[in-house]
Amino acid sequence: MKDVYILGIETSCDETSASIVKNGTEEIATVISSQIDIHKNFGGVVPEIASRHHVKNITMVLEECLEKANMKMEDMDAIAITYGPGLIGSLLIGLEAAKTLAFLYGKPLIPVHHIAGHIYANSLVKELQFPLLAVVVSGGHTELIEMKGHYQFEKLGGTLDDAIGECYDKVARVMDLEYPGGPKLDKLAATGNPSYKLPVPLKDDSYNFSFSGLKSAVINLVHNEEQRKEGIRKEDLAASFQKVAVESIVTKARKAIIDKGIKNVIVAGGVAANNGLRTAMKALTDELGVELSIPPMKYCTDNGTMIASAGYYAYLDGRRADLTLNSKSQDTLK
Ligand code: KG4
Ligand code: ZN
Repeated sequence: MKDVYILGIETSCDETSASIVKNGTEEIATVISSQIDIHKNFGGVVPEIASRHHVKNITMVLEECLEKANMKMEDMDAIAITYGPGLIGSLLIGLEAAKTLAFLYGKPLIPVHHIAGHIYANSLVKELQFPLLAVVVSGGHTELIEMKGHYQFEKLGGTLDDAIGECYDKVARVMDLEYPGGPKLDKLAATGNPSYKLPVPLKDDSYNFSFSGLKSAVINLVHNEEQRKEGIRKEDLAASFQKVAVESIVTKARKAIIDKGIKNVIVAGGVAANNGLRTAMKALTDELGVELSIPPMKYCTDNGTMIASAGYYAYLDGRRADLTLNSKSQDTLK
């Protein structure tokens, strides 16, 4: 079969990224322009500022990616674009760029769901095996998704309130850690003891999660200690929070693996970078004798590579969009 080159474009949040991937698995070139340093000053992503920076960066990022690959738009077989979910103003910039290129060069336009991208980040490392359980953990998502084959997604459950990454960032903020707090909280947790007692969320039979109660418990604890003029043992609080958050994911993942006869577990999304979660998922999958895949750090946070990879499998699945494709801030993965 002829080699297939996909240009993937990702602008759903605060990263402007383009990447060229060959046959869904081989990264040819990637460019990521991150806005973390800009949003840091505001303690979180400011949507208006994010979209303005995407406008400023997108052409440069695309040009640099083609240059790095030493390829031309004419060499691409299709253009894959994150149409959603994400920040609508940010999504629109990538989408318009993708549509313009598709129209100008007469290339197929492949709509990619952001979470499909996070899942397919794994196929850049290892072939996916089915039935597969994707544990999707990011700033916007906490979901368990079953896949019986390529591009067949079934959501088993998800968070009823906050996403796990969002919860990490908010807890980190109350502990005065700089944005994005998730990775800093993770580092701090490794140096502490889980000696604070925190409520274990949603101990039920579903595949769902809840993180707002845990978040509020930490915030209240910090405020109470401040009022009593007692210092918080930050590293112990970080370790206590991480223990409960990770356990909550592991408990529901365990149930899904057993119930669904899963062969391959993948952990996807920004929080897949979390060391506590990586260690706990490794122990769980070793115990149950199933294969675990976690992408290397560089594929865990938002990037165009994962979109190009997912785009390849969507392309094989016959998925195409025309120029009426619109961005969606929310959409179910299907
Ligand atoms: O997937 P991603 O780049 O963006 C979304 O689609 O949301 O994920 C970003 C999220 C942020 O909430 C960030 O704090 C969190 O992933 N994150 C982590 C770690 N690294 C990134 N959370 C906990 N521990 C980490 N090591
Ligand atoms: Zn993401």
